[in-house]
Amino acid sequence: SAEVKLAVFGKAGVGKSALVVRFLTKRFIWEYDPTLESTYRHQANIDEEVVNMEILDTAGQEDMLQREGHMRWGDGFIIVYDITDRVSFEEVAPLKGLLEEVKKPKHVTLVLVGNKADLEHARQVSTEEGERLAAELACAFYECSACTGEGAVSEAFHELCREVRRR
Ligand code: GTP
Ligand code: MG
Repeated sequence: SAEVKLAVFGKAGVGKSALVVRFLTKRFIWEYDPTLESTYRHQANIDEEVVNMEILDTAGQEDMLQREGHMRWGDGFIIVYDITDRVSFEEVAPLKGLLEEVKKPKHVTLVLVGNKADLEHARQVSTEEGERLAAELACAFYECSACTGEGAVSEAFHELCREVRRR
């Protein structure tokens, strides 16, 4: 079996914890809890291989030192933005830049997730913009909702595992 360490990054409030909880439990938690970091273990069968994931749900407000430590720790990364919060989208590329600096000379294995797709009426970032950014960052892209489960929340985690395993 394979061991994969995944870390979830993104601005405070984009729904990192909600996405992790949705992936692990198929449920949505309403209460907003500006989290301290937490880690979870999860086992999945991906392409007929047993994969043991360790998932680190980082806090959007962590300091630089913590952030770099988490980046060093991870094998693969999910960067999340909120489709109703343009600032969260603008923070994606700098996070990727920091990942590259920390991981140098290793390749950064990454997927991009635009969350809160259920809030179409409040959308500030179009799907095309998300796709364009993912193309620039050379990574897979998913729009989804931790709230309704629409989009491919599990697929984002599984695809990241596949890419980590390919490296
Ligand atoms: P920090 O841990 O503080 O960095 O935030 P976070 O990224 O973990 O965000 P969290 O999961 O705590 O969600 C923030 C708020 O957004 C909460 O009130 C959630 O209920 C809400 N939320 C998360 N995902 C979704 C979603 O897909 N749709 C909607 N409508 N609300 C969401
Ligand atoms: Mg959180």
